Amino acid sequence: EDMKFHELYRPQVHFTPEEMWMNDPNGLVYYRGEYHLFYQYHPFSKQWGPMHWGHAVSTDLLHWTHLPIALYPDELGMIFSGSCVVDYGDTSGFFDGEDGLVAIFTHADQEHQQQSIAYSRDAGRTWEKYEANPVIKNPGVEDFRDPKVLWYEPEQKWVMVLAAGQEVYFYESKNLKDWTYTSSFGDGYGAHGGVWECPDLIELPVDGGPKKKWILQVDIGEGAVAGGSGGQYFIGEFEGKSFVSDHQDVRWLDYGKDFYATQSFANVEGGRCIWLAWMSNWLYANEVPTSPWRSAMSIPREVMLKTDHQGNVILCQEPIRELDCLKASSDASRSFPLFNQEIRSLPQPQGPFEWQLSLDITEANVFKATVFESTEEGVSIVYNKGTGKLYVDRSRRGVRSFSEDFAECYEAPVSCPNEELNLRIIVDTSSIEVFANDGEVVLTNLFFPSPDIKEFRMSLECKEGQQLNVAKQQIQPLKSV
Ligand code: FRU
Repeated sequence: EDMKFHELYRPQVHFTPEEMWMNDPNGLVYYRGEYHLFYQYHPFSKQWGPMHWGHAVSTDLLHWTHLPIALYPDELGMIFSGSCVVDYGDTSGFFDGEDGLVAIFTHADQEHQQQSIAYSRDAGRTWEKYEANPVIKNPGVEDFRDPKVLWYEPEQKWVMVLAAGQEVYFYESKNLKDWTYTSSFGDGYGAHGGVWECPDLIELPVDGGPKKKWILQVDIGEGAVAGGSGGQYFIGEFEGKSFVSDHQDVRWLDYGKDFYATQSFANVEGGRCIWLAWMSNWLYANEVPTSPWRSAMSIPREVMLKTDHQGNVILCQEPIRELDCLKASSDASRSFPLFNQEIRSLPQPQGPFEWQLSLDITEANVFKATVFESTEEGVSIVYNKGTGKLYVDRSRRGVRSFSEDFAECYEAPVSCPNEELNLRIIVDTSSIEVFANDGEVVLTNLFFPSPDIKEFRMSLECKEGQQLNVAKQQIQPLKSV
């Protein structure tokens, strides 16, 4: 049997490089019928090293075709994270009046980081670096990287947001070559446990429109909610030059430990906002027990702004609808009550699956959904009405000796005003993404069962309380991509 892509822990519905090290997603863009996924890549080792941009394309965001490396390190340094845009009006002059792709990335030479560009006239297959790089020199800031560029329609100009120390800087340009600094944001806002990295700026309708708001997404290298690296976001206004946040407090993008360097796709049709992230954590990314590759991307998510029951605008994330195409047969949706202490075993899917649960918790205090469990290891989800928290527990032994920071239980506040909780859980060979209450809260985590755990053994349990009413329980196997 061909073992390629079937090695131990190889994800079956998530993007992974064929081999070697990967970190952040880069240059996400939709162009001429294809989604492009570039990524931080070290082609010579399973550890982080001199960064290249790896490359893959897809028509549905799930089935990816691997392409040759797009950008190589050069005399200006390594190729760190960045973004891509479609230059429709040939504002750059690279395309003889036609349109084309421009990549905006960080050149990193030791500690010296500056911004550069490259262009492609053949839908991303080959790239030329601009001869006058860098386009933004380092202004004397040690961490100065990860440019994300978008078209700002009202003023017919490009806007860049990039990370600078523990802030973000905004720049503007008419041609992607000449950039002018406009403002900074960050002091006094959000979490500052580490350097800020990989920002993104997105305008989205609230509750489908017509009102709109801006989201500033920013990652932090250390001190995120689950420990180590993670993402936060701000909701506010952007009028072309500066961002004004509606709030100072921290809002976490994901309460799990493995969702980092989130980036949205540029130029997606139908006004959809789709983003994905690197499914790992800098605390142990270099040690996870996979071979011959390291790291996967999350399932792409559709991002929406909604008004919650208290009138606050909140960010919601749901797995992209394209995922439904991987659902082969659909096990019938079931409803049943579970009584105090009762454990219900569920049908065992062979490979990856999506698990949907709608629960009425009026008479239940604590319930537990188990993905697999033996005396020594397991992965489970617990909701506790008393604490108002949802927990994803990977704290038991398992294959975790690679890091002290791995075997833990992660928690997120989840309010259930109508005593209803719905969960969409995507389980692959070595990851679990839990979307609660229509994506108001997400927890993304890796897991590495010991090799003798051959299958998932799922169950539902009403631990405390008289009764858990399961309004819907459905397990849908997902076809490997
Ligand atoms: C985030 C990051 C970026 C940087 C890249 C280097 O994970 O540290 O800030 O551009 O990785 O690989």
